[in-house]
Amino acid sequence: MNQVDCRSALYMPASVEKVLAKGPTCAADAVILDLEDAVAPEGKQRAREQAVRALTQYDYGHRLRALRINAAGTRWHEDDVEAVARSRPDAVVLPKVETADDVRSLSRALDARPDTGEIALWAMMESPLAILNAASIAQCVSECPRLSLFIVGSNDLVREAGMPMSKDRTLLTPWLMTLVAAARAYGLQILDGVFNDFSDSAGLESECRQGLAMGMDGKTLIHPRQIAITNRLFAPSPEAIAQAEAIVAAFDEPGNAGAGVVQVQGQMVERLHLEMAQQLLARAVRLADRD
Ligand code: COA
Ligand code: MG
Repeated sequence: MNQVDCRSALYMPASVEKVLAKGPTCAADAVILDLEDAVAPEGKQRAREQAVRALTQYDYGHRLRALRINAAGTRWHEDDVEAVARSRPDAVVLPKVETADDVRSLSRALDARPDTGEIALWAMMESPLAILNAASIAQCVSECPRLSLFIVGSNDLVREAGMPMSKDRTLLTPWLMTLVAAARAYGLQILDGVFNDFSDSAGLESECRQGLAMGMDGKTLIHPRQIAITNRLFAPSPEAIAQAEAIVAAFDEPGNAGAGVVQVQGQMVERLHLEMAQQLLARAVRLADRD
């Protein structure tokens, strides 16, 4: 699957075999098998082996398969990188990225191993230093083309900032928008952070809408109950599809052939909007086929 179509990415603690077994059938667009925060130190080795087994044996169909490893500098990192090379997920998720060098070192470590060329690198942005360095981290895509996506690590971010986690994320918003700007400037995708209260579906819906309004491409999730809402909200809405169809129809009218700008329902519409409308409709078809 194309990363552009990733609305939902579900974390699964790799230490829990029963949970890993749900990956191939869950409705998320991506699964992130986690070796990091969801796994206690004494369970790291077993989790690593279970993740390798799941990635090499299960058929995940259209779902993107990502493996979140432990950060550079931890005692598990080297073995985790080895596990990435053995299991060849679609993406490796690197936590606690704070500088472009963090991306370069993992990228080179993978370059040095055989058959790892296709593995994308997803960088977790989860500290004040990551926010301050967001542009230079995103820019290193020019040397490390594996880098394709940012993930917001909201729990670590608020903890490191000394901010309480608030449901409206008002004070966090400038930092989130900084990450969106850096991702957009260098052509990366960006997934929003998790919503911890998995029994609050109204709260999740409102946070999805907020992320969408910020320009996030999708959201990371912790519980299967969160998938349907997230997939629905990050897919083009029926209203957006109708609007896009009206734009395409307006430019198709014989009288508008060659026009640079037309009016649709009383609004000015330019050729750039036509291009956006065509992309939205193509994406809506791909997602409808999948769902
Ligand atoms: N992926 C796949 N399946 C999951 C899941 C997940 N992330 N979280 C829960 N499930 C499954 C459970 O195994 C359970 O399955 P069952 O009905 O066959 O027993 C079902 O969904 C209902 O789960 P529930 O009882 O509501 O929750 P729980 O107490 O089993 O789990 C958490 C709650 C928070 C421990 C669990 O959702 C979880 O581990 N989430 C991911 C945490 C994580 O990875 N954090 C790191 C990134 S922030
Ligand atoms: Mg984290």
